[in-house]
This record gives sequence, structure tokens and C-alpha cells, in this order.
Amino acid sequence: MAQRKIKLAVFLSGRGSNAQALIDACKNPDFPAEIVLVLSNIPNAGGLERAQDAGIPTATVDHKLFKGDKAAFEGAIQEVLSSYDIDLICLAGFMRLLSAEFLTQWPEQVINIHPSLLPDYKGLHTHERAIADGRNHGGCTVHYVVPEMDAGEIIVQKSVPILDGDTPQTLAARVLEQEHIAYPQALRIMADKILR
Ligand code: GRF
Repeated sequence: MAQRKIKLAVFLSGRGSNAQALIDACKNPDFPAEIVLVLSNIPNAGGLERAQDAGIPTATVDHKLFKGDKAAFEGAIQEVLSSYDIDLICLAGFMRLLSAEFLTQWPEQVINIHPSLLPDYKGLHTHERAIADGRNHGGCTVHYVVPEMDAGEIIVQKSVPILDGDTPQTLAARVLEQEHIAYPQALRIMADKILR
């Protein structure tokens, strides 16, 4: 009998290279997850096109239409999600913070990828800050999402060297390659847990 797969909603705000890595991983029949929805808060985000090209349903919930009313924005997201049977929400470059109220509805069911070795360099401009501090390693972390930003339990972490002459861009590119490996690995771990 075919193994059950966990059903994912991927949230993004931009180009969607991590979403693409997940789309590609899910093409493997042995991969224990499938993407049932890609949702963006930014109309025309590049990641939406990637999903459409892969035949995955997409939705846009534009936060700007809610004029700062976060509860209404998140309510609209919940409304979209309610049409799907979702096991796990994967944030992949989703540039909105989800509230405690939202996260309570999805206990241990929201994960994120962050471009640093957490708990170092939470927030933005991670590569710039790591280089400025003279660090010799950077990396990425897949972690559970909790109300405090970039603070949830770590699922997978990958480290890369920071080389002499690195710029935030060259380091970002080296880290991104590892992100694309780390996120599918984290999903295998999550699927094991959820399907057990
Ligand atoms: C990645 O670096 C991810 O770690 C961060 O946002 C970026 C998204 O990139 N959270 P992409 O849209 O997946 O290419």
C-alpha cells in the first residue's frame, strides 16, 4: 500500500526558491510529503508562479488590504486553509509574523527556514551581521514557529564556512544551497513524527 504523505501548505512572500526545493523533493514518489497549497501575502510573488507551473493550487491573501488589522488578515488565511486538509504549514520566505492566536490553532504545525545558525542572528540581514562580526561560520536553520520571532525548537541546522572576501550576497548564495537541502530533510523528520 502506498505510504500516506503529510499534506503541506507553503507560505511565501517572494521568489520561492525554497518552495521550489520542496516542490522538487515532493516529486520523488518516496518523499513523505505533498504540497496541497502555496499561499502568498504578496500578489505576483515569484513563488506563486513556480507553484502554478507545478500544478499546485495557489492563493493570495494580501495583507495590505487589511490595513493593519492582523486578526482579519489571519482570519482570511484561516478561511483559505479551511478548504484544505493540511498537516503542516511551511514558511518559506514568508515575511509576516504570525500571531500567538494563529499559532494556537496550529500547535507544532508551523515550521520556518531562517538563514542563520539560530539562536544567532534572529531577524533580518543575517549574513551582513555575521560577516561584520567576523564569524567564520554561517548557515541556516529549520525550526518550529512560536510567537517570539525565530525562537522555536530547532529541527535541522546546516553550517557553511564564511570565507575571506565574502559579501552578504556570496554568503547568502552558499547558505541558500544548504537551505534547499535542509528543508526537505526537516520535512522527512516532521513526516516521521506526524505519521507515527
Ligand atoms: C531564505 O533565505 C529563507 O531562509 C528566508 O527567506 C529567504 C527566502 O528565499 N526566510 P526564497 O524565497 O525561498 O528563495
